[in-house]
Amino acid sequence: MLYSPACDRNAAPILAVLRQWLPAGGAVLEVGSGSGQHGVAFTRQLAQLIWQPSERSEGVGPLQERIDAEGAEHAAPGSRLLPAMALDVLEAHAWPAGPYNAVFSANTAHIMGEPAVAAFFNGSAGVLAPGGLLLLYGPFCDNGVHTAESNAAFDAHLRSIDPAMGVRDSRDLIQLAKGKGLEPVADLPLPANNRVLIWRRQP
Ligand SMILES: C[S@@+](CC[C@H](N)C(=O)[O-])C[C@H]1O[C@@H](n2cnc3c(N)ncnc32)[C@H](O)[C@@H]1O
Repeated sequence: MLYSPACDRNAAPILAVLRQWLPAGGAVLEVGSGSGQHGVAFTRQLAQLIWQPSERSEGVGPLQERIDAEGAEHAAPGSRLLPAMALDVLEAHAWPAGPYNAVFSANTAHIMGEPAVAAFFNGSAGVLAPGGLLLLYGPFCDNGVHTAESNAAFDAHLRSIDPAMGVRDSRDLIQLAKGKGLEPVADLPLPANNRVLIWRRQP
């Protein structure tokens, strides 16, 4: 089964954000779920939560392994972790119909190339209910300035592996989102120089 030590570290701080921001009884689409640890952790801790994990097609099998092994255990009252869905943000037809109360994605924007990041915002806006939230967790820079030396080093490392990857600029993301009817509503600092950026879909 895929395992991410970072997910173990960041699940609790992200959970605190979700507790504060997610509506009760909400349906959430997660993009780029990876190991599936976040969906398992959050459906155990938050009641009345319907969590839809997704991955690119090659990642669906490993993601489903965790859902099969852990998805039904200890779910909070009324919460469900749904089977993994195949979703590559670049494939417009692959996006579900929605509507979702929220789209959540962790540590994906720096892995996706810029066209995929744009497609992520476009697709998210399309599946969100009016007033729904887009929550994006990860490292971000501001106006080209990194918020920590470790993020600058991480950015350089990513770009050395693949020039299409890299830590994204919050200003660029806000611009992208604006064109899709997504209004920025929060920028929350989390441990290890990560943040959760939150947008609300305009009614
Ligand atoms: C660093 S992993 C993060 C996984 C998980 N969210 C976590 O926090 O551990 C980046 C994820 O982005 C996904 N990803 C990259 N490009 C994507 C795309 N075009 N569409 C959907 N997911 C994508 C990868 O498949 C991978 O699972």
